[in-house]
Amino acid sequence: MKFLILMHVIGTVLGVGAATFAEIFYTRFNSDNIINDDERKTLAVTYTVMRTGLFLLVISGFGFLLYFRLTEHVGIFSSPSFWAKMTVVAVLVCNSLLLQARLMPFLIGTAVSLTSWYAALTLGVLGKISASYFEILAYYAVAMVVVTLGLWWIRTHLHGPKKV
Ligand code: HEM
Repeated sequence: MKFLILMHVIGTVLGVGAATFAEIFYTRFNSDNIINDDERKTLAVTYTVMRTGLFLLVISGFGFLLYFRLTEHVGIFSSPSFWAKMTVVAVLVCNSLLLQARLMPFLIGTAVSLTSWYAALTLGVLGKISASYFEILAYYAVAMVVVTLGLWWIRTHLHGPKKV
């Protein structure tokens, strides 16, 4: 079980860390509206780290569930925050597939990604909470709108001088 927690925490660090730096790098690189080859490579590496984090989380997450099933600690399956987190992870996976297929506007897609990573982290750390499944998803939806508007404001106001 300790190994699963270690794998889950490493996955969280890589995933949430990469999601944060992808935003910082993209906003900085895009300040002159040009993403050059070097910058594109840096973003590609960041997204690979993010996917590696998600892979570790899904594997260790199912490891947790198998362990709980085998040791008959099945309380988690009736936890609204656990199912809300699984919903957030499903949104995160669908969103990254749509972004990769360029079927999702970049501003919306990156806001969904950033919000979902921090929402899953928060729900993972909080564990069982008294809020209902739909209450948690309502907070998640509000956070999504706030992050989208925040990213839009940052990106429109942080346009520095053209790089020569
Ligand atoms: C973005 C994806 C995810 C993030 C950021 C995340 C984050 C976390 C964190 C921070 C914890 C607390 C770890 C600890 O107790 O030290 C946790 C616990 C847990 N996670 Fe995740 N997780 C993610 C995806 C998943 C997935 C996909 C599953 C299941 C398939 C899962 C199942 C669990 C379970 C069962 C626990 C509770 C472990 C316990 O009670 O000790 N997680 N998660």
